[in-house]
Amino acid sequence: MAQSKSLVVVFAFLALASVAFSHKIGGHGGHGGNGGGGYYLYPQFYDHSCPRAQEIVKSIVAKAFAKEARIAASLLRLHFHDCFVKGCDGSILLDSSGTIASEKRSNPNRNSARGFEVIDEIKSALEKECPQTVSCADILAIAARDSTVITGGPSWEVPLGRRDSRGASLSGSNNDIPAPNNTFQTILTKFKRQGLDIVDLVALSGSHTIGNSRCTSFRQRLYNQSGNAQPDPSLDPSYAAELRKRCPRSGGDQNLFFLDFVSPTKFDNYYFKNILAAKGLLNSDEVLLTKNLQSAELVRAYAENSELFFEQFAKSMVKMGNISPLTGSRGEIRKNCRKVNRD
Ligand code: HEM
Ligand SMILES: *[C@@H]1O[C@H](CO)[C@@H](O)[C@H](O)[C@H]1NC(C)=O
Ligand SMILES: *[C@@H]1O[C@H](CO)[C@@H](O)[C@H](O)[C@H]1NC(C)=O
Repeated sequence: MAQSKSLVVVFAFLALASVAFSHKIGGHGGHGGNGGGGYYLYPQFYDHSCPRAQEIVKSIVAKAFAKEARIAASLLRLHFHDCFVKGCDGSILLDSSGTIASEKRSNPNRNSARGFEVIDEIKSALEKECPQTVSCADILAIAARDSTVITGGPSWEVPLGRRDSRGASLSGSNNDIPAPNNTFQTILTKFKRQGLDIVDLVALSGSHTIGNSRCTSFRQRLYNQSGNAQPDPSLDPSYAAELRKRCPRSGGDQNLFFLDFVSPTKFDNYYFKNILAAKGLLNSDEVLLTKNLQSAELVRAYAENSELFFEQFAKSMVKMGNISPLTGSRGEIRKNCRKVNRD
């Protein structure tokens, strides 16, 4: 009796110890911090193996931002488009090669995703500092945080320890990343598939407080929203008229517009205030107010209280960053973010 009790105690201790010392947790796949490698992410992951990793990322993001403010938005979006396809595994960074069809060619990414050269520069600096140690997937996560901070948004500790995929998914990129003309329900379903909820959807959409969109991503709203040759009634008419000047019925597909016309390079809550004024640029922005009561409440709350938005944004970014990471011995640490290592 006494013996079996002490055995239980020993097992309990071992279980706890393995969590405390190796960051290993009960290993099944899925969302929420455990990609099936059985390990979870934690902010101190590189503290011993590459102590300067985070300051190196930050300084190169700062340098790129000084050259061009939009790069912060582009880097933030790369992490999103990475995480929604096979998890946060750096798959978006792979170029096409033998067996790999690059995600860069997908509908959401083609002529749109950018910032790859900055990731390359960070990677090559990190390879000099500590070879084959810091994953491309982690670089994306840190750069997304630094981009948020440098534009005036909230900060958070980034859980780390993701490894890089040995493949990409062009079809996943086409199907799993929400499109600007998806219905509210489709967008929410695509978030739920990733383990994210309606609160995450509204908070993370707040990323559109910075950055640009091409005319082609919202043209439909200006001319023929629902097949009746009328503009979207939930778009302010004078704002629509302004947009039509540089986003004609045909042509000008690549012309750029600010997602938040009030403060386009500042991370603040004007994105939500604009939506309330019927001046959200994308259909996917405005539907957060017009198609669902709960998300409408959240839009109003964040428009009123930027602290509340910042707090939730940081939480939701950590949650998004935890989508199915490769950990343990799964995946690899790429030497070059554009290609898998040779065997
Ligand atoms: C909710 C569903 C979402 C949809 C439908 C959507 C759609 C889009 C579209 C169409 C653009 C413009 C692309 C172009 O025309 O080149 C864009 C830009 C952007 N998106 Fe989203 N997005 C969504 C959520 C998110 C999330 C969750 C994030 C980040 C966490 C994000 C961050 C950004 C940023 C920062 C830009 C500007 C990029 C730049 O200027 O280079 N978006 N998005
Ligand atoms: C959404 O936009 C895409 C690309 O422009 C287009 O092919 C598709 O028909 C649109 N879907 C809807 C429902 O309007
Ligand atoms: C608007 O869209 C509908 C359906 O897609 C199409 O039949 C119609 O010709 C379009 N009208 C104009 C004026 O572009």
